[in-house]
Amino acid sequence: AADTRESLYLVSEFANTYFQKIMHKTDQGKSIGLSYFKERGFTDETIKKFDLGYALNEWQAFTDEALKKGYQLEFLEKTGLTIVKEDKRFDRFKGRVLFPIKSMSGRVLGFGGRILINDKKAAKYVNSPESDIYHKSKVLYGIYHAKQSIAKEDNCFLVEGYTDVIQFHQTGITNVVASSGTALTPDQIRLINRLTKNITVLFDGDAAGMRASLRGIDLILEQGMNVKICSFPGGEDPDSFAKKNTLEELTLYLEENSKDFIQYKASILFEESKNDPIKKADTIREIINSISKIPDTIKREIYIQECSKIMDISEAVLFTTLAQINKKES
Ligand code: CTP
Ligand code: MN
Ligand code: MN
Ligand code: MN
Ligand code: MN
Repeated sequence: AADTRESLYLVSEFANTYFQKIMHKTDQGKSIGLSYFKERGFTDETIKKFDLGYALNEWQAFTDEALKKGYQLEFLEKTGLTIVKEDKRFDRFKGRVLFPIKSMSGRVLGFGGRILINDKKAAKYVNSPESDIYHKSKVLYGIYHAKQSIAKEDNCFLVEGYTDVIQFHQTGITNVVASSGTALTPDQIRLINRLTKNITVLFDGDAAGMRASLRGIDLILEQGMNVKICSFPGGEDPDSFAKKNTLEELTLYLEENSKDFIQYKASILFEESKNDPIKKADTIREIINSISKIPDTIKREIYIQECSKIMDISEAVLFTTLAQINKKES
């Protein structure tokens, strides 16, 4: 199995080089792929740093080239780069710009491929399937380029998408990784936990992003980590926001708008409930439920105090609620 995996790494590395060559050296690559990235505001340096590439709009250009170079169909199929149907072979990525997904140590595990023109009939992103080397629940996009600065800054910004990571780097913030749209998993958080105990969640400023960040909070707390949340104005995501602002402006925005998870939950749930006492009770229970996930007793106590202040309710009641939740769970 280890030698199969090694073969899959080699195929993926070849594909990574090939897709970059196609983008930089062919007419179609330059006029469609490279100009797409340029129009999004990515510099040559950024494009190179992230090994961005392009897949020709043909049925089997990549597969033909890989076979010609001696890579075996078995491994091309196992990485998902080639789709085999009866006696036909198709390239998975066709007429899309590509983002290689790398491991902590920089090996290429798979690709995300973005369509060039938004079209409701086609998926915006096509991604590599699960394989012996690519387990999407265990990977964070950008971790290879971020690991040093995550450790140095002792904080990790967590975003949703490939372009959010890239635009942050270009603006000058490099301690950033993406969950790639999937719901955050315990394994992904564990990867960050090796580098820092602090996560700031920066999800898209839409309903889906808000729901995803709420779900992420408890998972992060469960691992004994600290979590802050910073949301963006409606319709913005970290990419679009970073693009409009300088490093100083972005840094200031993040500093001023990063909220402790209690403040965040209180603010969004409060927004919905206003002064309705029943909804306020639900909000408090929601917050206590998150606090119950924190393994450290002292931290739990500090958060109870904070919740008591923010929600204007006695600590005694909150401790009773916490005890009830703990009882239900054990
Ligand atoms: N995603 C995916 N498949 C989709 C849509 C999204 O895999 N059909 C993943 C991608 O990793 C994407 C992330 O979810 O980067 C966030 O999705 P979204 O916010 O819709 O895309 P953006 O990253 O903002 O991409 P863009 O700015 O190019 O629209
Ligand atoms: Mn495996
Ligand atoms: Mn989104
Ligand atoms: Mn987005
Ligand atoms: Mn976006």
